[in-house]
Amino acid sequence: MEPVADKGKSEVDNYKEIMLIYNAALKQITTKLEILNEEFQDVHQYNPIEHIKFRLKTVESIVNKLKKNDREVTLDNMVQYVNDIAGVRIICSFRSDIYRIADMLSNQSDLTVISVKDYIVAPKPSGYESYHMLVKIPVYLSDRIVETKVEIQIRTVAMDFWASLEHKIHYKFTGLVPDHLENELIECAKMVSLLDARMENLNTEIQESRIPED
Ligand code: GTP
Ligand code: MG
Repeated sequence: MEPVADKGKSEVDNYKEIMLIYNAALKQITTKLEILNEEFQDVHQYNPIEHIKFRLKTVESIVNKLKKNDREVTLDNMVQYVNDIAGVRIICSFRSDIYRIADMLSNQSDLTVISVKDYIVAPKPSGYESYHMLVKIPVYLSDRIVETKVEIQIRTVAMDFWASLEHKIHYKFTGLVPDHLENELIECAKMVSLLDARMENLNTEIQESRIPED
């Protein structure tokens, strides 16, 4: 069962209940991530997760997305077509951490991976890199279980740095970014990718090397 509108209740009450369910799903995912990170720290003395951000989409953004996609603004359409109402962003140090976290999450039996978009293997034309997973997770309410979608974005600190600036620039120019800025962003994205690769190699070398004893 997905978060559906109850015809007997007001639209506002239904909206509130749906958002409560998405918020519960967000909490479950962030708790899962904290547990994985703590366990990983305990076993490997290393944190794969640098930090986690999460947010619920605002009502304005939900309405805008439905309109942009030529969908009628209804609660049913919001639940069916807006996949990023609950969004989690995981920031890691290294590219390999991204795949490690994605695997650890996918292997959990209560979590179902709906789709994956790997913009690291295939960056967007803008230069954007990140690993996106759309998952669903059951939320247990008093009288029913609701399978709820959560969009998970996993990226390195460098990818996040780039994406934040790129987002700010797009927002500032409302999408009409001057060519020289767009080209500069693409150049910076290449540098991000190179930096991630070199930092990964450095880290591997450090992990493999023995500290000389005196
Ligand atoms: P949206 O309608 O934007 O959600 O795109 P989509 O449904 O095609 O999904 P996609 O996986 O492409 O993008 C989902 C989210 O990734 C966006 O809402 C952004 O948070 C992020 N994203 C995707 N492309 C870019 C980009 O070029 N720059 C930045 N800064 N973020 C991006
Ligand atoms: Mg989005």
